[in-house]
Amino acid sequence: MKALRCNELGGPEKLSIEDIPVPELNTNEVLVGIKSASVNFPDVLMIQGLYQYQPPLPFTPGAEAAGIVEAIGSDVKNFKIGDKVFVMAGAGCFAEKIAVEEVRLHPIPSEMDFDVAAALSMTYGTSIFALKQRANIQAGETLLVMGASGGVGLSAVELGKAYGAKVIAAVSSEEKASVCKEHGADETIIYPADGLDRDQQKEFSNTIKNLTNGLGANVVYDPVGGTYAEPAIRATAWDGRYLVIGFAAGEIPKPPLNLALLKNCQIVGVFWGAWTAMFPAENLANFNELFSLYKAKKINPRITDRFNLNNAADAIAHLGNRKAVGKVLVDV
Ligand SMILES: NC(=O)c1ccc[n+]([C@@H]2O[C@H](COP(=O)([O-])OP(=O)(O)OC[C@H]3O[C@@H](n4cnc5c(N)ncnc54)[C@H](OP(=O)(O)O)[C@@H]3O)[C@@H](O)[C@H]2O)c1
Repeated sequence: MKALRCNELGGPEKLSIEDIPVPELNTNEVLVGIKSASVNFPDVLMIQGLYQYQPPLPFTPGAEAAGIVEAIGSDVKNFKIGDKVFVMAGAGCFAEKIAVEEVRLHPIPSEMDFDVAAALSMTYGTSIFALKQRANIQAGETLLVMGASGGVGLSAVELGKAYGAKVIAAVSSEEKASVCKEHGADETIIYPADGLDRDQQKEFSNTIKNLTNGLGANVVYDPVGGTYAEPAIRATAWDGRYLVIGFAAGEIPKPPLNLALLKNCQIVGVFWGAWTAMFPAENLANFNELFSLYKAKKINPRITDRFNLNNAADAIAHLGNRKAVGKVLVDV
């Protein structure tokens, strides 16, 4: 079968399409024929050896996909051949087939196609966990989403609206801002694309405060980090929650902790992947809620770019180069 292979850590240019054997099944595993896969920032980090979970070399990148069950191991209980499934594998999805433990699969509801299913798990799974379990967001609160037109960002914009929050979307361009508006953002802020100096940080904080009647944002969803993080914490409301989602800007911020004291706010870590392994029943309940929201047309993953499996390395490069808006798909 065809698969995108990482034989050596580095940029997408080091990846190659190869013919490898179809994986053999363990008794608790399911073989899925992949129809559609999607790119996430962790793929960009993993091929460089920079992600918190690293498979041994050589490996096939690709954290999530959707497809059809083609074979099952003798101990598999919940799936049968022909079932349509979400695959949340962490790696291995940029390939024609994947063998995964059944706990990493969910059935796809009948009203959802393979592309939407491939685009939904990691982004909306992270955002619903962040906003519900970690921030306990309430209707009427203000949610600031940084990097808001990206994969996790846009899902947080939609979920924030679904939970009745006022959503402020912060992005690096007019084009990205208008995408956030289309997905429900009430206000947008455009920040400089190449990081913020001290004056720009002050201006960013002041803009957030001006949009929140001087009170600051109740919840800040931050997948960007870098020099954007500290001014966002400075513009967090009393009793606010600043959610540490990721560091797409490439730098882990080190904000002074007196800010948490002065704001009486919480700096809250979010590690969705580890949580799903510890709390599968709660994660399943979140997914069922996401399916209801999708059915009610309150969430709708935006798919803006498509690549085929032969060009999957270009798909990873596209996202890594900050060109992605919403989700980037790989048709398998
Ligand atoms: N905590 C968790 O459980 C969890 C789960 C999934 C993902 N994540 C993390 O969330 C982050 C975003 O992931 P994603 O898949 O949504 O990525 P994405 O689609 O590429 O979105 C990232 C956004 O970050 C902004 N950004 C700022 N500086 C950037 C830079 N130097 N390079 C690239 N983007 C930059 C971009 O928006 P602007 O151009 O508007 O600034 C971009 O839209 C990653 O750090 C990822 O590891 C965390």
